Amino acid sequence: MRKPIIAGNWKMNKTIAEALELVRAVRAGVRDISAVETVVCPPFVALQAVSEALTKSNVGVGAQNVFYEEKGAYTGEIAPGMLEGLVDYCIIGHSERRGYFGETDEWVNKKAKALLAHGITPIICVGESLEQNQAGETDAFVRSQVQKALAGLSAEQVARLVIAYEPIWAIGTGLTATPIDANRIISLSIRGAIAEMYDEATAQAIRIQYGGSAKPENIASFMEQPDIDGALVGGASLKADSFVTMVRETERVLARV
Ligand code: 13P
Repeated sequence: MRKPIIAGNWKMNKTIAEALELVRAVRAGVRDISAVETVVCPPFVALQAVSEALTKSNVGVGAQNVFYEEKGAYTGEIAPGMLEGLVDYCIIGHSERRGYFGETDEWVNKKAKALLAHGITPIICVGESLEQNQAGETDAFVRSQVQKALAGLSAEQVARLVIAYEPIWAIGTGLTATPIDANRIISLSIRGAIAEMYDEATAQAIRIQYGGSAKPENIASFMEQPDIDGALVGGASLKADSFVTMVRETERVLARV
């Protein structure tokens, strides 16, 4: 049984003070939730304060990026060892990092390996552009992103990962994939690629989220799908009430099915 994971990707939002205010409210709001995992991913500078504010809570912490080298002359970058003890998760390969900052599949693969070596769980983002979607290339493209991201990882490592399927055209636009389409890509292209690379048990063990304009009003429709194990939430994670509602809605759907 895969435990759903609702993770908030705050992107470049919130000062340290604002971050603390938000996580205190999230912590209180999900205190009684045990069937769903809740994670917040603040900017680097707020990680220490947020991590302390969430001590002994059921809310996990993630970073939004990492570099794969252990240390050295990489101005502005953060090494995986610096995140150890501070975070449980780290988002890699987000389409904004791929698009604005040139992150490649090869880097995503190196980052995944570096994080796993430090006991941090990668949340690997994949997803197609609008042009690829309209040209019918989604399956082939997402499949190849998954294959490249996971190259050289063991089945045990892959089973512990999280993948987020985020169609680029649905991010921050108010547009979403239909729950049925998102479930089909997650099942066919992502679990399918993993089953080919490893085996069916590994494909069934890995948790795969949907991301792209997920919000309180639509989260239940995604969670009703059998292959969707939660959401990576941007805009709707910046307010405690909407984010907490999404966690609670997820638990409500679980209790029903
Ligand atoms: P929105 O929820 O704002 O569309 O962002 C999705 C996302 O990119 C999460 O990583």
